[in-house]
Amino acid sequence: MTTSTETSGTDLVTEALRTGTLAGLPEGHFINGGFVRPAHNRRMESFDPGRGEAFAEFAAGTAEDVDDAVASARHAFETVWRDTLPVERGRILMRASRLIQDNLERLAVAETLDSGKPIAEARGDVRGAARTFEYYAGACDKLEGESFPLGPDYLAYSIHEPVGVTAHIIPWNFPISTAARGFAPALAAGCAIVAKPAEQTPFTALMLAEILSQAGLPDGVCNVVTGTGAEAGAPLTRHPGIDHITFTGSVATGRQVMKAAADDITRVVLELGGKSPVVVLKDCDLDQAIAGVLGAIYENAGQICSAGSRLIIERPIQDEFLAALAARAKALSLGHGLRGPDVGPVNSAAQLDKIAGFVARARQQGAEILAGGKATTDPETGKGWFYEPTIVARLSPRDEIVQEEVFGPVLAVQSAEDADHALALANDSQYGLVAGVYTSDLGTAHRLARRIDAGQVFINEYFAGGIEVPFGGNKKSGFGREKGLEGLKSYCKTKSVAARIT
Ligand code: NAI
Ligand code: MG
Repeated sequence: MTTSTETSGTDLVTEALRTGTLAGLPEGHFINGGFVRPAHNRRMESFDPGRGEAFAEFAAGTAEDVDDAVASARHAFETVWRDTLPVERGRILMRASRLIQDNLERLAVAETLDSGKPIAEARGDVRGAARTFEYYAGACDKLEGESFPLGPDYLAYSIHEPVGVTAHIIPWNFPISTAARGFAPALAAGCAIVAKPAEQTPFTALMLAEILSQAGLPDGVCNVVTGTGAEAGAPLTRHPGIDHITFTGSVATGRQVMKAAADDITRVVLELGGKSPVVVLKDCDLDQAIAGVLGAIYENAGQICSAGSRLIIERPIQDEFLAALAARAKALSLGHGLRGPDVGPVNSAAQLDKIAGFVARARQQGAEILAGGKATTDPETGKGWFYEPTIVARLSPRDEIVQEEVFGPVLAVQSAEDADHALALANDSQYGLVAGVYTSDLGTAHRLARRIDAGQVFINEYFAGGIEVPFGGNKKSGFGREKGLEGLKSYCKTKSVAARIT
């Protein structure tokens, strides 16, 4: 892999803009420590959403490839990794963290080409991935058990064993972040991995597997099989050699994964959709709240499971707030992610159609469009899959656009009479992933935080927190927690040992 010292960051961006691709992208699956051809030798195209054109090919994997990857992971788990000294596991993860940093530009350019996201966001995701490995590197030798007081005749204690071979099904909106957030704790716990990145964004998971190998991870501990959900993802989730599945994606696919896991009683963590509320109360700091709401819905063009896609605004400040917000939304620049726009394209033509459909139906039902509301293209090239930063108002709680995840840059506005009404609206959802609260009254903030049904609540800064803070959903947003030490527990099984010693 070329390092950023060989080709500087700006060179890579300029080169990628000129050629429309990135030289030296991985080819094949990553199995047993190296790149291998797919069993059926079929390939698929990956698209650059900023141009709406294919820019590279990757392996279209099938059940045979999944079998090879699972066998390789099982062998590496049983013969090497589960017995590797915890301190040594930590050193490998720490080296991986540094190598991710060394390859920051290359990974970020690959991520932007493949997903469409602005290069600054891609760089942030790569830094976050490095930080994730750093965080879990330090946890490898601190997976401590407990002892239990049974009196003088017994000794009882617990140990945390790795669950075994873990499957990671990764979506296209945060390819490297989601991979890192699963790989690092799984490896820290002593598990071996088979991952299946989304077919829209296969490359950075493969690059990460290669980096882990360069960091000293034994062959077979981390495997990546690319391909579609039906041909590669489903065989992986059904595979009897898998002990745990971490799935991030849609509710519909999550349901299928959970059913597949049921056959073998395989453990699952499901991180699914959201329709997360941002509650803005009349005593908030307006500038802080406007900036927060904008980032919550327009970062990654709104394609974030935890996007703040519902603004719940207290009526006395509604008109002033919405006028300022709409002006800011209209001023956001759109463009190819490599040119550093405020907002990039959405990931696929299908996703663009889906977003446009939601807004068209809301419009038909009499909603008011305060900003945006149209599909568009990169103003420089006339190409790509873009949707204008959009605000939809005059809605009632049962409207489709209030209840369903759009997964695009579309904010639905709801009005609240007071904090209690805001709370009721916030919880009136099938989802419960995250929520934001903007207020200068800390008592109200924490009272709402306690009563909002969500896995994570942000006060006065949306997306506050980092890898240290557990993350995951309630209700149809799924269950299980990633990140933090809690995230590590998903990859461990507790064994308790009780002995009579007299
Ligand atoms: P998806 O949930 O089908 O895809 C996510 C991952 O699951 C991909 O790697 C895919 O290949 C894999 N997959 C698909 N079918 C599978 C199966 N039967 N067994 C195992 N793995 C399978 O989501 P998709 O189709 O990409 O997007 C549809 C909608 O889902 C989006 O419009 C968005 O609303 C939502 N979504 C939510 C995400 C989140 O972070 N919560 C991420 C991606 C999509
Ligand atoms: Mg792509």
